[in-house]
Amino acid sequence: MVKPIHKAIFPVAGRGTRFLPATKILAKEMLPIVDKPLIQYAVEEARNAGIEEFFFVTGRGKVALVDHFDHAIELEQALLERGDKKALQSVLPPSGRVFATRQQEPLGLGHAVLCAQKFVGEEAFAVLLADDLILAEPGCLKQMMDVYKEVGGNVVACENVPRERTCHYGILDIAEDDGRLARARGLVEKPDPAEAPSTLSIIGRYILQPEIFRHLEKREVGAGNEIQLTDSLAKTVSGIPFHGLRFKGKRFDCGGKLGFLEANLAFALERQDLGPRVHEMLKKYR
Ligand code: UTP
Repeated sequence: MVKPIHKAIFPVAGRGTRFLPATKILAKEMLPIVDKPLIQYAVEEARNAGIEEFFFVTGRGKVALVDHFDHAIELEQALLERGDKKALQSVLPPSGRVFATRQQEPLGLGHAVLCAQKFVGEEAFAVLLADDLILAEPGCLKQMMDVYKEVGGNVVACENVPRERTCHYGILDIAEDDGRLARARGLVEKPDPAEAPSTLSIIGRYILQPEIFRHLEKREVGAGNEIQLTDSLAKTVSGIPFHGLRFKGKRFDCGGKLGFLEANLAFALERQDLGPRVHEMLKKYR
């Protein structure tokens, strides 16, 4: 019987330097894809996977992001009076409970997750990085939850990357692989392409057991002089099963400009109200 998962952590305290000046005071995760902030896609994905408690690890000047998931009474009243149910629905907070804390300094993703230790306690939990946006049905986290119920332990979302890009990702050292689910015997953070044990990379969705905190607590610094989540994960592999799921869907790296622009196009093209017009518009740029 695996530990059920009701809690998700959303680390949103990074500096977002690749999006300056837009991210000078605004969290990168508040940037919109078409008309919805990245973070709202991630929260909705978590909600649809059964998450009931949402915990944001924010940085300085990122209060707007937490406010975004609070009631905006006047706006809701105005939309109600106007009979605009669709807009009203889109601005309501997620059903469940919302919490937040500050990461005083962006010391790395591992440190951001450590900031949520008290919230998590001894439960299994999910981590979603909103700048990895995933177009999938069912959502990526739901797909992972279904696998987790079978295999337990730590489960991450994975995809193959070109070998020359392994130095940007956490990479799995694979013990067994059925083409969809890979069991890892080790993990390496940002290996040189020549030394990478595979090209299967971890992307921003994790289901984790609380044992990870025993390692994060040591605050060991890794690649890029940051406290890396992958380094602590790697230390759990000998004691806890570790699986990487090649999810069904398309992932956009919205932490970078090209991925962000592509996601805007892909999500707009998917929409009935916009798709045909965007398609027409694009013909002008061939
Ligand atoms: P990134 O490395 O992609 O984000 O972190 P960044 O540092 O904000 O981006 P650049 O490279 O400067 O443009 C992945 C995720 O982890 C969060 C980020 O907010 C992002 O969602 N993060 C990263 C933290 O919350 N705290 C940190 O110390 C580092």
